[in-house]
Amino acid sequence: MTNDVRTLEWTGDGLRLLDQTALPGRVEYVVARDVGTLVDAIRRLAVRGAPALGVAGAFGVAIAVREAALEGWDDDLRDAAIAAVREARPTAVNLAAGVDRVLPFVAKGADAVAAEAQAMLEEDVRGNRAIGAFGADWILGRLGDRPLRVLTHCNAGALATAGWGTALGVVRELHGRGRVELVYADETRPLLQGARLTAWELDRAAIPCAVQADAAAPSTILRGLVDVAVIGADRIAANGDTANKIGSVGVALACRAAGVPLVVAAPWSTVDLALPDGDGIPIEERPAGEVLSWGGARTAPAGVGAYNPAFDVTPARLVTALVTETGVLEVSAGSTPGRLRG
Ligand code: MRU
Repeated sequence: MTNDVRTLEWTGDGLRLLDQTALPGRVEYVVARDVGTLVDAIRRLAVRGAPALGVAGAFGVAIAVREAALEGWDDDLRDAAIAAVREARPTAVNLAAGVDRVLPFVAKGADAVAAEAQAMLEEDVRGNRAIGAFGADWILGRLGDRPLRVLTHCNAGALATAGWGTALGVVRELHGRGRVELVYADETRPLLQGARLTAWELDRAAIPCAVQADAAAPSTILRGLVDVAVIGADRIAANGDTANKIGSVGVALACRAAGVPLVVAAPWSTVDLALPDGDGIPIEERPAGEVLSWGGARTAPAGVGAYNPAFDVTPARLVTALVTETGVLEVSAGSTPGRLRG
């Protein structure tokens, strides 16, 4: 199976991004040739998803180095621009890690930085394929070689990565083996990454999919309609605590109550071994308007405030398996990233 989604592409003088805010209605691109455009694209989620943010961050450094040369910035201004990219969103560790990875190339110029970012992009696609294969092997080994009903939350697909996907990479691999009966795609309030993006990807890949309200997910799981839940991650602590899109904890609790495996699919670049557990994961709070309004019209009474955390942290004890590009860790059974790499 191939994937024709080009989430990010270096054009030689900028980063071309598939504008995910316009999907599924319109396929549009933004080209970021300056840091301001890239930071804006990251903040408004034109590019999003932890691994895609990592690659965007790395190319963002190339953009900053190029812009500094064109505009005659000194090193301080250039470094401030790089810091703005690094800090554009806080939760996905990949963004800062992607920036940090290419910093040693800054002195060699924008082309050298872009070449390293391109290597990251290609590694991410290869890693996604490996995650897909390891994940499908583990799931079929555990549940039996049969068509499965899979639940996923948010979008951890080609759009959230440099291509193919992590959680959806596992789904694509299962589908390639004829082992997907149906994917429940949680709609993912308030920005609808599931309804808009996951459903778009699954539809293009002809994988059967039902979009459901986030609030339906625990009941769907408890009613026995789900064989396995597969989600992505934005940051995973050494003990396996996993930050992912808000609502993931509800999915995890229902899975545990129903005896359904919860599989987290993520590359090692999403693991933050500097954090012993999830308490230290910074959780992004997004603008109130995302939950107080709908389609530009206010839905909540005037004067009412909002609490809008974009992510939650699923405790390691609820994570059955973590699938990375190097294999599977059975986290709730005690096999944690910190133990393996520590
Ligand atoms: O706010 P978003 O859309 O960037 O959130 C994305 C997610 O929560 C994804 O599940 C996660 O980044 C994994 S992507 C492979």
